[in-house]
Amino acid sequence: MVNASQRQAPLYQALKNHAESNVANLHVPGHRQGWGLPKELLSLDGQALFKLDLTEIPRLDDLHIPQGVIAQAQELVARASGAEQSFFLVNGSTVGIHALLMAVGGRGEVLLPRNAHRSALGGLILSGADPVYVMPEIISGFNIAAGVLPEHIQQAIESNSSICVVLTVRPNYYGVVDDLAKQVVLVHAQGRPVLVDEAHGAHLRFHHDLPQDAMSCGADAAVQSTHKSGGALTQSSLLHLSGNHLDGEVVANALSLLQTTSPSYILMASLDLARRQLALSGTSLLERTLTLAGKTRERLVRIKGLKVLSKADLPGFDLDLTRLVINVSGLGLTGYQVGDLLFRRYNVYIEMAEANNIVAFLSIGTTPADCDALVKALEDIACRERRVHATRFPEVPFNIKKRMKPRDAWFAASQRVSLAEARGRICAETIAVYPPGIPVLCPGEEINSEVYEYLELASRHNLSCQGASDYTLKTIRVVIE
Ligand SMILES: Cc1ncc(COP(=O)(O)O)c(C=O)c1O
Repeated sequence: MVNASQRQAPLYQALKNHAESNVANLHVPGHRQGWGLPKELLSLDGQALFKLDLTEIPRLDDLHIPQGVIAQAQELVARASGAEQSFFLVNGSTVGIHALLMAVGGRGEVLLPRNAHRSALGGLILSGADPVYVMPEIISGFNIAAGVLPEHIQQAIESNSSICVVLTVRPNYYGVVDDLAKQVVLVHAQGRPVLVDEAHGAHLRFHHDLPQDAMSCGADAAVQSTHKSGGALTQSSLLHLSGNHLDGEVVANALSLLQTTSPSYILMASLDLARRQLALSGTSLLERTLTLAGKTRERLVRIKGLKVLSKADLPGFDLDLTRLVINVSGLGLTGYQVGDLLFRRYNVYIEMAEANNIVAFLSIGTTPADCDALVKALEDIACRERRVHATRFPEVPFNIKKRMKPRDAWFAASQRVSLAEARGRICAETIAVYPPGIPVLCPGEEINSEVYEYLELASRHNLSCQGASDYTLKTIRVVIE
């Protein structure tokens, strides 16, 4: 007899319920439940879509040894992206970052910002590379990380000859971009390549009012989540190479090691179509997005208690104006509280909520109704919920002591201890409050008092935590010394 519980399909049911409800959608993927999809994909009904779910049969090429239609599609991506060679990724930008670090990690140490995404840490563990962190600048008033100053990269390379490659994150989760062109000149002068985690920048190249993209700035490699700010399906990303600092064959080998042998043709077709959509109509689609973002920004700044991140807040840096970073501290509320109210009471779903800010993600799929719902909800919250005292969260601590290589700590014998007992020990896992997925601790780093206090508070406030094997943070895995 079939167990009654087997009649349930909880994930499918939750997705169906959400899809059938009337919500404002200000988060990834950029196609926004179909609105921004290339029209060829949108016009396929279920049956026709499933007919595209094929495999490596004659005439459909092979992602791992592309010689036919996949090779042609990747060549078109390269041309549209200003790259010499481009690769389809079917496990998001994550796999592209892993592959790049696998390709160069054996050369020496990797310089990267402390607030790099956890996929960079995955690449360090897989490759065995040793990280050297550079601290990003902090934007006061918003308490968020901006980018890294070129002179800090130069100083780091000059004082450490083992650094063999620089990995940057640009734009970051808040749409902030640093001076990559200058960084590239400085790093190339030292004979090292620059790899760019451009997960949030797949759209930059296609509108002149957006900051320059990584390939235009002279980067050697860039990885883009086309599913975030392009019109591709979730998990569909791109890796671009240029110049002669990196060997395309070595990168291809690393990708072959890491990507599935059964890549989805639907995802790859969505990349092919998303490239065509951006190349042919990107400018007009993004013009519409920028106009919508501009009007929404104007309405938000009129709400008392809100501050919206603008270029004026970012001397020395630039901003992707499609991203709305809204500081809510003036309401006496935390970003977490506002994010919670937005979806519970108003059916408005945003990209991220954190201690002081919320982030609304606008893309080629965003509708005026989405933005209107966001503004009206925030107006209402500002009227009804304004509080005198905000719950205060400490900022994510950056001042961390590395005692082992991430890979060595990852493979070392470890034990689980209570958070209090973990003080002073070496962390064996990654702990990132998510989003934006900035690791507070990486394997091999000491759990010092500052980190302990932050984690204790995160645990008390039930902040969403990824990477930790005990997501409640009551216990933590440490290296047995
Ligand atoms: C800065 C950054 N890099 C990389 C990634 C990973 O991208 P993907 O989800 O496409 O694997 C993310 C995901 O949010 C990110 O924010």
